[in-house]
Amino acid sequence: MSAMRVLVLGANGQLGSDVVRLWRDPDLHVVTATHAEADVTDAAALRALVERARPDVVLNTTAFHNLPVVEDDPETALRVNAVGGWQAARAAAAVGAAFVQLSTDYVFDGEKRTPYLEDDPRRALNVYAATKIAAEDLVRVAHPRAAVVRVAGLFGLAGSAGKGGNFVETMLRLAAEGRPVRVVDDQVTAPTNTAEVAEALLPLVRAGMHGVYHLAPSDSCSWYTFAAAIFALTGRPADLQPVTTARFGAPVRRPAYSVLGTTRAPALRPWRAGLERYLREKGHIRTEIRAGHERHL
Ligand SMILES: NC(=O)c1ccc[n+]([C@@H]2O[C@H](COP(=O)([O-])OP(=O)(O)OC[C@H]3O[C@@H](n4cnc5c(N)ncnc54)[C@H](OP(=O)(O)O)[C@@H]3O)[C@@H](O)[C@H]2O)c1
Repeated sequence: MSAMRVLVLGANGQLGSDVVRLWRDPDLHVVTATHAEADVTDAAALRALVERARPDVVLNTTAFHNLPVVEDDPETALRVNAVGGWQAARAAAAVGAAFVQLSTDYVFDGEKRTPYLEDDPRRALNVYAATKIAAEDLVRVAHPRAAVVRVAGLFGLAGSAGKGGNFVETMLRLAAEGRPVRVVDDQVTAPTNTAEVAEALLPLVRAGMHGVYHLAPSDSCSWYTFAAAIFALTGRPADLQPVTTARFGAPVRRPAYSVLGTTRAPALRPWRAGLERYLREKGHIRTEIRAGHERHL
């Protein structure tokens, strides 16, 4: 049997680069495409890329998702997130390839107080979320068996260039600068290591996934609790203070609760396990394995 060919769009992003790093089986052939190699807003370039790559599966991890910037530029956000997704799905359909689109917990409004399931109604609180809802719908119009994979609060080794890094690195930088670190304690989600998403995604892709999936840790926390865990695990001193969203005064509205429950895929490991893995792989903590016991140094 010939190797399954997977074309990864957004291959140097957090999730894209972890897919490239971790999907290493001999029966897989991963073809990478970065923003510089193919802009998803350029239909002709996308079509040419897909025709050259001859993929069995196209995985679209691209996004324009710097939220404050997006909030003032719905036109670009719609073009990249929604039209880009539609064009990628169409290009995949044209060569008979499967298609997987990444989406977000922010498609929900946070009014629910138990984990959101795949079929729960969506309602956007900000421009980014509205463009991702449009993307979810457009890719399914363009590709009859498209899969939509919602994830939340991603952090990965590559960091997100478009968002200026990731939350973990921002916390460590602010603390190293000796500044007070104020973090909201009334927004609850499940921060997720992209490596854990990449690994969970592969068996689903192999099984011919289609429809909507949530890939999220089995538990949840506030961003404040997550920040506290970063400092506890790394042993870095920090002047960490909880604040309410109202007090923090962020320019973009976000759901107060956006935990993703899963009915169609196994839950990922708890968020703390993903965080520990990230901190270890990034070299922020060292782990000694002695007689089967792990000890953080
Ligand atoms: N990060 C999160 O917290 C989060 C949460 C929920 C859902 N998601 C979704 O999960 C997916 C992966 O997120 P991530 O954090 O891995 O993203 P990321 O690190 O910011 O990577 C996004 C990738 O998209 C590329 N890109 C941006 N505009 C493009 C365009 N017009 N054409 C082609 N490529 C373009 C970027 O390339 P350049 O950097 O070179 O421009 C980058 O490689 C996205 O769909 C996102 O919406 C993310």
